[in-house]
Amino acid sequence: MSEPRIPAELIHRLRSARRVAVLTGAGISAESGVPTFREAQTGLWAQYNPEELATPDAFRRNPQLVWDWYLSRQERVRLAEPNPGHLALVEMERRIADFTLITQNVDGLHRRAGSHQILELHGNLFRAKCFSEDCPVENPPPESGEILPRCPQCGGLLRPDVVWFGEMLPANILRAAEKAATQAEVFFSIGTSALVYPAADLPLTALTAGAMVVEINPQPTPLSPHVTFSLNGAAGVVLPALIAQTWGIVA
Ligand code: OAD
Repeated sequence: MSEPRIPAELIHRLRSARRVAVLTGAGISAESGVPTFREAQTGLWAQYNPEELATPDAFRRNPQLVWDWYLSRQERVRLAEPNPGHLALVEMERRIADFTLITQNVDGLHRRAGSHQILELHGNLFRAKCFSEDCPVENPPPESGEILPRCPQCGGLLRPDVVWFGEMLPANILRAAEKAATQAEVFFSIGTSALVYPAADLPLTALTAGAMVVEINPQPTPLSPHVTFSLNGAAGVVLPALIAQTWGIVA
């Protein structure tokens, strides 16, 4: 298979860019074998809708069930490794003075790949927070789901530190993401269906502010008609080609 060709105008802009922002979604982890939210519903979990497991009401009803589901998702992600798409973004961060990686993924694979400037819009599977007071908690929950983890401060139940259906995104992280989108010279939307708000607004914010907006996705999305360049293909193929053709390096 031949390497995808990256538009010369994009290469030129990237080489001189000081500010770049990237939004990623489940698609960038697809090549690592991390199942998306819905794909994760197999085997034992096939009988539940994500809506029955990822809500505050579900947790109030049955915290053990919700923790068991999250522990099973953690286990799947632990078995996965970052792929060439994640690694190419580490290379991009090394070459851009002001780089922000905004992700909707909760799998932590960008950090494991070696990225640093990460804004996790939807939280992280491997962190916990207090259910009643919403404060983050350093101690991770126990590996076995048999004893429910409790907040060392107030004794209340701990919950996974991820954004559930009907919940607001962490305000400080969303603000930082909006700022990065407004200031970016080049903005990438990678492996996201661009359907879930407010994340889906970020590429449009960047476009309005004058950025070159580039989408990387094998499928068209509602964002596709608006972007400067649509690179159709898998992130794990297109991103390494982009890095190689822009900076002459193999990620
Ligand atoms: P989706 O599962 O909605 O979309 C994944 C996108 O990745 C699709 O557009 C695919 O075409 C694309 N894709 C698949 N394989 C790819 C590959 N190898 N390279 C590049 N793209 C590929 O995932 P998200 O857009 O991340 O929210 O979903 C956004 C949010 O919706 C999630 O964070 C989650 C969910 O409800 C919360 O949990 C709050």
